Amino acid sequence: MKLLIKKGHLLDPAEKIDGQFDLLLVDGLVAEIKPDLEEKADRIIKADGFLITPGLIDLHTHLREPGDEQKETIESGGRAAARGGFTTICCMPNTRPVNDRSEITREIIDRARKNSPVRVLPIASVSRGEQGQELSPMAELALAGAAGFSDDGQPITNSALMKKAMEIAAQLGLPLIDHCEEKNLTRNGVINEGRVSRLLKLGGIPAAAEEIMVARDIILAKDFGWPVHLAHLSSRGSVDLLGWAKAEGVPVTAEVTPHHLLLTEEVLLTGNPDAKVNPPLRTEEDVKSLRQALETGLIDIIATDHAPHTEEEKKVGLEKAPFGINGLETALPSLLDLLVKKEGFPLVRLIEALTAGPAKLLTLKSGGRIKKGQLADLTIIDLEGKTTISRESMASKSHNTPFLGATFTGSIVMTFASGLPVYQNKNYDKTLIT
Ligand code: DOR
Repeated sequence: MKLLIKKGHLLDPAEKIDGQFDLLLVDGLVAEIKPDLEEKADRIIKADGFLITPGLIDLHTHLREPGDEQKETIESGGRAAARGGFTTICCMPNTRPVNDRSEITREIIDRARKNSPVRVLPIASVSRGEQGQELSPMAELALAGAAGFSDDGQPITNSALMKKAMEIAAQLGLPLIDHCEEKNLTRNGVINEGRVSRLLKLGGIPAAAEEIMVARDIILAKDFGWPVHLAHLSSRGSVDLLGWAKAEGVPVTAEVTPHHLLLTEEVLLTGNPDAKVNPPLRTEEDVKSLRQALETGLIDIIATDHAPHTEEEKKVGLEKAPFGINGLETALPSLLDLLVKKEGFPLVRLIEALTAGPAKLLTLKSGGRIKKGQLADLTIIDLEGKTTISRESMASKSHNTPFLGATFTGSIVMTFASGLPVYQNKNYDKTLIT
């Protein structure tokens, strides 16, 4: 199968490509990248006026299979990813049961192969059942195909356990991803502790709860030399600590979510449970600091923390609703519009944080770049196209996003995983393919 993509604007931060090129895909691989190719092909895609980037990689996705298939399955989450321009997603282990055994890891990989249009890399748990008491069989889980370790949804409170887990993950050459939260400070918390929580008389989640654990992790990484990756940073204090750590040469990396880059606690004044998330949306000052850190590369990665929950669960009101924002299908359009178009954030850095950044942490052999001989994972984007976020338009089984009803400038035209079109935007059908 030969596929020729003509005249697209290739933007690949890893390969330092930024210009108009033709792309030839043969049997799932990138066969040629040249300014002008006159190959005969089975299909030709007219991509003039469109951006072509490496397929996006999400380091932090919650699929709910096994256990909560009413919220999301590997199949629906995989389709949501393809619609959102993602070609690889890493699924967190807080399923039911928790992914803490090699059989579960293998089962997820097997089901993903059968049912998901995009690659799914399972992240296994650090501790058994995410209970924080004893370590999961990390070496076995790695052998079964785990791409990293995390107790996400829960912090690893026990520092001795954390130290041991960091050592083993380092030996296995896999990332250890920590959800930083000092639980004693967050127990009755619903939203950020501050102006809005006082106004609404809701329990607060102070930034200190995150920062204390960020500091703990940094100290462990510094003193023992094992890497740690900090998930979903939300506060200026965390950014300051990260800045100090990287300046000291501590092996630490970090991610930020689209919602923490784009929204503040103020959106909770409407009482919308779809904006309830952990860590919570914080203040303008925090958002500013997170954006700056992402731009300079201090924060390495944008990850969605796609956390689907059903309407029934969310509609019980702010206090009782579960934490989580649905993110795979809103991430790119919202960031392109609200960050790049409206705020002048550099597009190349945005794409880097969604492609090369996660590919580097995951040490992927193929992915995160468009390169001759590598798998053809690509996202075709129309920077001027409109995307409206609606229940009907979403492939995800859940629709818990504060962006419901919004229209963004920036749309995903097509997504290719291993050279196969896994998503094709209907608005472009007629003009695109010959
Ligand atoms: O808001 C969140 N939802 N934060 C987490 O850490 C877990 C996630 C979930 O699994 O729903």
